[in-house]
Amino acid sequence: MSKPAEPSDTTSLKDKIVGLSESSGRKSYYPLLQQKIRQLQEEVAERERAEKNLRETLTRIARQQTAMAEIATHPSVLDASFLDASMITEKMVRALQTDQASLWLIRENALCCVDKFFSQTGKHVAGQCLDVAAMPEYVAALVHGPITVADALTDPRMLNLEGYCRTHAITALLDVPVHIYGQLEAVVSFEHTSPRAWWPDEVTFASRIADQVALMLANDRRRQAEEELNEAHALLQQNLYFTEALLDAMPIPVFYKDTKLRFLGCNRAFTEITGNLSSDLKGKTSTEFWPQIPQVYEESDRQLLAEGGQKIFEAKFKNKDGKIRDAIVAKRIFHDGKKNHAGIIASFQDITDLKQSLLDIEHLRNLLSNIINSMPSVLIGVDQDEHITHWNLHAAQVTGVARQEALGKPLSAVAPWLEQERSKIRHSMRSKQPFFDPKLSRTIDNETVFEDVTIYPLVTNGVEGVVIRVDDVTEKVRMEEMLAQSEKMLSLGGLAAGMAHEINNPLASIMGNVQVIKTRLHKPLPQNIQAAQTAGTTFEHVQRYMELRGVLQMLDTVHESGAQAAQIVSNMLSFSRKSGAQREALDIIELLEKTVELASTDYELKKKYNFRDIVISREFAPGLPQVLGRAGTLQQVFLNLLRNGAEAMREKKYAPEDGPSFILRAYQYDRWVRVEVEDNGPGMNEAIRKRVLEPFFTTKAPGKGTGLGLSVSYFIIVEEHQGRINVLSLPGEWTCFVLDLPRADLDEHAVARNS
Ligand SMILES: Nc1ncnc2c1ncn2[C@@H]1O[C@H](COP(=O)(O)OP(=O)(O)OP(=O)(O)O)[C@@H](O)[C@H]1O
Ligand SMILES: [Mg+2]
Repeated sequence: MSKPAEPSDTTSLKDKIVGLSESSGRKSYYPLLQQKIRQLQEEVAERERAEKNLRETLTRIARQQTAMAEIATHPSVLDASFLDASMITEKMVRALQTDQASLWLIRENALCCVDKFFSQTGKHVAGQCLDVAAMPEYVAALVHGPITVADALTDPRMLNLEGYCRTHAITALLDVPVHIYGQLEAVVSFEHTSPRAWWPDEVTFASRIADQVALMLANDRRRQAEEELNEAHALLQQNLYFTEALLDAMPIPVFYKDTKLRFLGCNRAFTEITGNLSSDLKGKTSTEFWPQIPQVYEESDRQLLAEGGQKIFEAKFKNKDGKIRDAIVAKRIFHDGKKNHAGIIASFQDITDLKQSLLDIEHLRNLLSNIINSMPSVLIGVDQDEHITHWNLHAAQVTGVARQEALGKPLSAVAPWLEQERSKIRHSMRSKQPFFDPKLSRTIDNETVFEDVTIYPLVTNGVEGVVIRVDDVTEKVRMEEMLAQSEKMLSLGGLAAGMAHEINNPLASIMGNVQVIKTRLHKPLPQNIQAAQTAGTTFEHVQRYMELRGVLQMLDTVHESGAQAAQIVSNMLSFSRKSGAQREALDIIELLEKTVELASTDYELKKKYNFRDIVISREFAPGLPQVLGRAGTLQQVFLNLLRNGAEAMREKKYAPEDGPSFILRAYQYDRWVRVEVEDNGPGMNEAIRKRVLEPFFTTKAPGKGTGLGLSVSYFIIVEEHQGRINVLSLPGEWTCFVLDLPRADLDEHAVARNS
């Protein structure tokens, strides 16, 4: 390749010939002429060379212009649709007639080849990337403009690019940077495998290509940005539609305002509930739209805008029927893209019905708790962990544990007496079956009480549990016992009285005849003396015989036994004695005192049972009404009770500081006067307690007691006085006979008699 010609001599031919004629007069003409001719020949050659150069230059420029025009008019450039790198590299190669031309873009700190065209093969390659940081000299050189390199392997700007140059057999190259907004974005590169110099017009052409690429890249970027903008806009629009649909799909009324508190819109639920259209609201403030609305709402909005965050409060609103309703309102600030307050979004919920329901629930709850508390049963609710959830007033009264104290505690801690029911409670929860345990007995303050326990499974708010109902049925059990007792006593009493009647006549005959026998054997009456003589003996002999054989004593024993039997029969006959006759109003305390006095003088009681050593305390209620009864038989009852008590207490061993004692009580109980005779003797077990009133029931040794004392007392109280008798006992501790006698003041006849 020839080096480009030095710029041509600018001296014109005319000037040179004039110079020749001037000098020919003084020196030899011919050599001078020859020299001039040679000069002229050289000048002509020079001019030819210059012309050739000029032609070549013109040809190059023509090629460059053609390429430039083709690039500029290429559809991809005209439409600015995309960067057609392969088209450009082909034009570049043709324009500068280089072996290769390529286009490189900066991507993530690397220079990446988007197209390289090889003129010899007509092929395109792409994809090679060179690390920008690995070729600082090259990059630094590019900052100043186009680089022309004559020898790529030795040029210092190509340091670290020798490998690349060798691989591609590059000797000369012309690289032009593409700057966009001062930033290196691409490189336009012409490469040649043999030595080659670069004409200034070529450098200019390369720069124009770089400009064109810059333009195309900028277009590309702008188009990309526009596309992104369009996409963002479409997304925004979609978001807007979505938000509108979301708001309209919500059943909760929503409205929103700008920072000037003018409505921006509302959702469908708002329109449906208030009857106001979004289009009517838009642009207006609340006060403009509803002149009557209280100022506080807008003031609160202003405060929210000033302070940010959110507000939740109760408010009133008018619905589409013009009714004022209660609502719970939630307001919140929303922001613009720069995080400035852009307005308020508010939602509200109509809570009128909810409030009413809450009131109704509260009312029901009160009603329910009143019902529960007014019930005479203990009601205890427990959850599945057996912790107390309900505790009614009666439960508090019975246990002495207040509701607040009991709630939440384990049942076993608050009501240990229900321990025996725990397995049933658990079973009831599991099986959802109710359980009923009748007449469970337990001892409270030394007294046996009976309770019916019912366990109902219960599911409240999805939480399993049970309600335990406990009813005190002590009184009922006693009544049942008494009823059973009275039935038993009536049949036994009837039987005994019947037997007594039957025995009465033969017994009377026995007794009468024994008396007659004694008289006939013992008394020397004329008929007796006469009969002895008629029999061939004397009355004295008969008497003597009776004495010797002890017949008269035997007859006395028969009489004594007969008398005893007659006493029993008399007692038995009292079972069927009917009541009602000659009952009078009696002072029961006076009668009790008299009986105690009688007992203390009773020989047997005094001697055998040390009656006087027994401590007797009295608990008599003042102002006690009189009872309706018969003093004689009632006294017999009290005496029986005192005798039994004294007999029983003699059997018990007392601690030194303790000793036998009676407590006598009398007080008004419902329509009765209740009398209690309690001793601190050995008491009795349940089996005995249930039978003590039966005729002939005794625990005493044969011959020691008839077992009639209490049965006679029973008939006196129940049959004769229409009263009640009951026996309570704690074995080893005490026995208490409870007698209920009719009040005289309630009996019309007695009241009339006394007045
Ligand atoms: N206070 C008491 N303490 C303990 N047991 C008693 C008491 N009172 C009565 N009993 C029991 O009741 C039984 C029946 O008494 P009841 O008075 O009917 O007959 P009794 O006393 O055995 O015979 P009787 O009265 O003819 O002497 C007694 O045997 C005794 O076991
Ligand atoms: Mg007795």
